[in-house]
Amino acid sequence: MRHFLTLKDFSKEEILEIIDLAIVIKKETKAKIFKKYMPNQTLGMIFEKSSTRTRVSFETGIYQLGGVGLFLSSNDIQLGRGEPIKDTSRVISRMVDMIMIRNDSQNELEEFSRYSKVPVINGLTDKFHPVQLMADYLTIIEANKSENLKVAYVGDGNNMTHSWLMLSSKLGFDLNIATPIGYEVDSEILAMAQEFAKISGATITISNDPKAAVADASVVTTDTWVSMGQEAQKEKRLKDFDGYIVDDALMSLARKDAIFLHCLPAYRGYEVSEEVFESHSDVIFNEAENRLHVQKAIMVWLDQNRDN
Ligand code: CP
Ligand code: NVA
Repeated sequence: MRHFLTLKDFSKEEILEIIDLAIVIKKETKAKIFKKYMPNQTLGMIFEKSSTRTRVSFETGIYQLGGVGLFLSSNDIQLGRGEPIKDTSRVISRMVDMIMIRNDSQNELEEFSRYSKVPVINGLTDKFHPVQLMADYLTIIEANKSENLKVAYVGDGNNMTHSWLMLSSKLGFDLNIATPIGYEVDSEILAMAQEFAKISGATITISNDPKAAVADASVVTTDTWVSMGQEAQKEKRLKDFDGYIVDDALMSLARKDAIFLHCLPAYRGYEVSEEVFESHSDVIFNEAENRLHVQKAIMVWLDQNRDN
């Protein structure tokens, strides 16, 4: 049985197989063909943090696949009152067919998965947001940017950045990351990416220089400067990230036809200017929609790769 906890567990071939499946499923969905790939299955969806896209896309997705989604806010279940994660896993996984979790800790997610009888999907942790990156890559393909791909990530070295490191190093495209001093990516995750990059041929560059990072990029991306759970650091972060906004001046250093991606929610005037956001909104909202299609593919793929 496979889980979907981080892209480090997936080969290039597997990532592309899921993307190909997402392309098929998206085409069917657009033609209003809703194949029941997972009839009568229940997806448990545990949320310890807020969500718009992840909740709506997983719940709609499992319904379209013939199943049903069960929304479980950690405030409402005993997990939020201290029931151990391993007990929660052993209970819920006996009753549902697949589980998606958004929580604070990749370690706890991994612990949950070790005790689960059914596949577990990472809906965002402190370390990774792999389902988002799958949607981002589908968006890149649809925008005809997957050849000669060079991605520039400007901003916080966070769960999104770590996931970009995994995607780039697995698929073999170039990635430039620019973060402010003190907000660099996790060194262990970077080292792992550098190892994968030796095999895939990706060139990964890390700096504190947004202009150098964006030079010649075909995709420019960023994320909020204040992730969920970091609200107390907001004032300091906004000061420390001064100069890291993706605005027209920065975008003008990228390739002429470069696209801009954002996982959303976006905070205009901080990590991205209103002008850059609105002039790339078609791609950004296609990226958001692709969460639905790609996650349906992930669920179907995990279902098809069970032992039983
Ligand atoms: N990008 C993303 O995961 O959005 P939500 O937090 O709204 O789920
Ligand atoms: N880095 C952000 C991503 C939100 C989808 C966070 O963790 O809040």
